[in-house]
Amino acid sequence: MRKKICRLDVNGETFSGYCGDLLLDAALMNGVHIPHDCRSGYCGTCRVRVVAGRSFGGRSNDGEFVHACQCRIVSDLKVVVEDVPETVSVAGRVTDLVSLAPDVFEVCIEPSEPLHFIPGQYCSVQFRGYPARCFSPTAPLDWPCDAGLIRFHIRVLPDGRVSSALGWKIGRGHRVKLAGPFGTAYLRPYPAQRLVLVASGTGFAPIWAIAEAAIKEQPQRELVLLVAARTLKSFYMIPALCRLALFPNVTIVPMVSQHRSVTEAVREGRPTDHLPALSPRDVVYAAGAPAMVEAVARIAAAAGAKCHSDPFEPDVSPSEATGFLSRAADWFSGETASPPLSMADWQPQDPEGGEPLPATPILRQRAW
Ligand SMILES: Cc1cc2nc3c(=O)[nH]c(=O)nc-3n(C[C@H](O)[C@H](O)[C@H](O)COP(=O)(O)OP(=O)(O)OC[C@H]3O[C@@H](n4cnc5c(N)ncnc54)[C@H](O)[C@@H]3O)c2cc1C
Ligand code: FES
Repeated sequence: MRKKICRLDVNGETFSGYCGDLLLDAALMNGVHIPHDCRSGYCGTCRVRVVAGRSFGGRSNDGEFVHACQCRIVSDLKVVVEDVPETVSVAGRVTDLVSLAPDVFEVCIEPSEPLHFIPGQYCSVQFRGYPARCFSPTAPLDWPCDAGLIRFHIRVLPDGRVSSALGWKIGRGHRVKLAGPFGTAYLRPYPAQRLVLVASGTGFAPIWAIAEAAIKEQPQRELVLLVAARTLKSFYMIPALCRLALFPNVTIVPMVSQHRSVTEAVREGRPTDHLPALSPRDVVYAAGAPAMVEAVARIAAAAGAKCHSDPFEPDVSPSEATGFLSRAADWFSGETASPPLSMADWQPQDPEGGEPLPATPILRQRAW
């Protein structure tokens, strides 16, 4: 049976697609660009608003959008894609690596060409010899700043394939591939509404990018910032909070999840314990631990507030997982001589066969 042909319209560009096909595939096959990343309905980068016609599947949680990578064409369709910078892939180099806290680095990267992003979007970052990971560009914590650099706050996970190499195998001069920008939790122009920004840990990176841009654009705007870290030692955001506190309508709620006895200025608990009462005139952005982000999104939805979030889900691609499993299987079946998790197994490989990767500590400590 021949498939029905439908007329499709993406931001005014028209083309034909088969009924039953995925909207993203139909668009790309016709040379019409819809931003995308994971193609599995997870990252939200391909969200579009259906303004006319019918589609099936891929509806976003708030029901306002569909994911073009998951939604199938049912009839003629007219969709609108939000205006975001074009996704590009650029090379770059690490220019600085600063230890902000025992478990957080600021990593500055100089791209070979500009990579434009809207505050709150994220990039795929691949340090040479390591798998790609998602990290969110941020603003400088304090002045001065070099506008040509892209900076990230990266939490070091003890068993993190990439983050645990920072300051050790990955240092200044390390080559990087950046792709992006991606994501949906970026700053939109809601000038009259109160912004409620919620960050846990390095979720502060995108949230600080949003806060900085929003307050630069409109210094009088009402903004509530809830910032959570696990301990006082990992509370690396103080210089940024001091900058923000200078603005008249900004409220900052810092908190740590572990018991603290040194200061009363920092509260104890989680962001959901200290959220202000929300209403439909609030716009909420949340970033960091997935459980926290989901809890905030639920509270915002119940209050009728808009909520934008890209939770920091662990980022291990199926090929890495398969690699590990097959290496484990090889070991159990006697095909390899050593266990799959030996340190030798974790040595960074250089697929391009370039210069050897540095093996000594190569970092700078931030002095407050
Ligand atoms: C949209 C998006 C934006 C992100 N932005 C940032 C950012 O700006 N800064 C930042 O530090 N991280 C960010 N992350 C999270 C980061 O991509 C992952 O933590 C990544 O897996 C770290 O890579 P790794 O190689 O060091 O650890 P991996 O080797 O990937 O993981 C090591 C172990 O830690 C676990 N793990 C991984 N991530 C987490 C986590 N977040 N919490 C708890 N356990 C975890 C894994 O399951 C695994 O067991 C972002 C994630 C997403 C999806
Ligand atoms: S590309 Fe569709 S959700 Fe990620």
